[in-house]
Amino acid sequence: MYDLFSLPDIQFPKNFVWGSATAGHQIEGDNIHAQFDHMPFEGGRVPAGKACNHYELYREDVALVKELGNRAFRLSVEWSRIEPVEGQYDPAAVAHYLDELRLLKEAGLQVYVTLVHFTVPLWFEQKGGFRSLENLPLFERYLRFIVPQLTPFVDSFHTLNEPNLGFGPESAETLRYRANLLQFHARAYRVVKEFTSVPVTYTHAFIHFFPYRRNDPQDLLFTQLKDYGFNEMFLHAIRTGEIVSPFFDAVYVPELKDSADYWAVQYYTRAMVDSRQPLEDGKRFDHKYLPMIPMKFYLDEIYPEGLIANLERLKDRPVMITENGLCADDDRFRVMYLALHLSALNEAMRRGVNVTGYLYWSFMDNYEWGSFLPRFGLVHVDFKTFQRTPKPSAYFFRDIMEANGFSQAILRKYLTEMPSLAK
Ligand code: BGC
Repeated sequence: MYDLFSLPDIQFPKNFVWGSATAGHQIEGDNIHAQFDHMPFEGGRVPAGKACNHYELYREDVALVKELGNRAFRLSVEWSRIEPVEGQYDPAAVAHYLDELRLLKEAGLQVYVTLVHFTVPLWFEQKGGFRSLENLPLFERYLRFIVPQLTPFVDSFHTLNEPNLGFGPESAETLRYRANLLQFHARAYRVVKEFTSVPVTYTHAFIHFFPYRRNDPQDLLFTQLKDYGFNEMFLHAIRTGEIVSPFFDAVYVPELKDSADYWAVQYYTRAMVDSRQPLEDGKRFDHKYLPMIPMKFYLDEIYPEGLIANLERLKDRPVMITENGLCADDDRFRVMYLALHLSALNEAMRRGVNVTGYLYWSFMDNYEWGSFLPRFGLVHVDFKTFQRTPKPSAYFFRDIMEANGFSQAILRKYLTEMPSLAK
């Protein structure tokens, strides 16, 4: 139980960075050279198609980002548009991104650019993509082409988005893939650093693993193991340069050590670990399950405590929240989610974590990797007309950004009672 109306007021430190985040493939539309559009779509899954048509509507979108009070904006630049064919760069795509970045800077925003947000060119994927370290020079060649053109407009670079998810069940293959991703990240970090002095990092999906049975030795052990493969393996690698996995000999990669100028944390909720289930996939506790959209989704619980617990592990360098958000059709839950997570963030800061900013995911409803049903946006998007309509949560968040803090006075303008899903 949470009592939103008893949450204390919070003032954030001066210069705290506020804004929202997006990713190219999820909003732009017609990103046809990306590998993701060429995957098999089964079981009701759909490709991104026109997505939010942001590639055409970017001028209006930048104006709306500004109008809604954002001080910072995170977006990705799509490699598959810039190098649709191996070795051939598309000058129109480069010009497009430079224009978008210029507009963001002219609007006075701090710009966070992700170099790879899950999507890569199809040709790169067909060569094995990040699964093969032999492809490092291909990635490096692209970075040497694009990064120096972007640097005049970028306040911080994210090399890879959430390499720690490194898709697949926990297996030797998945862990090897994650180890490769760490090496691709490290190379990207070093290359970007040659061209700019702005902070560079990767973004980390902080999944809060939680034992289904709190005192069961197997559940506890598997919770730790999962946390190791998804979280600790990465933190250790960045801190020491050493990649340690249960399935292969440890590898020491000198360029990996300290290849993060800050921790970019993306947090949504917790994941239950049940050692008796395939892939240790635990059920939600019934009383915590919140079906906020008309499909089964992995983020159907609100668990701000997980943010505190994981941030406490990151006291060795500054932290920025580069994604945090909720998909819910009823926007009141988004207001609730924001209030609770800012409160949790404040708790972590009081415990000594140096948090420098917060970006909400996502600025607008978008394509959620196979579906348009999970709506994360502060801004509603009509996927037929591409009409944008800010939700009340967008104004709630704007008021928070303006006040550089959360207060009961702001909350009560947008919510007068705890939301419920009861019909
Ligand atoms: C990803 C986003 C995604 C969000 C919600 C994050 O892991 O970076 O691309 O939309 O989670 O699932």
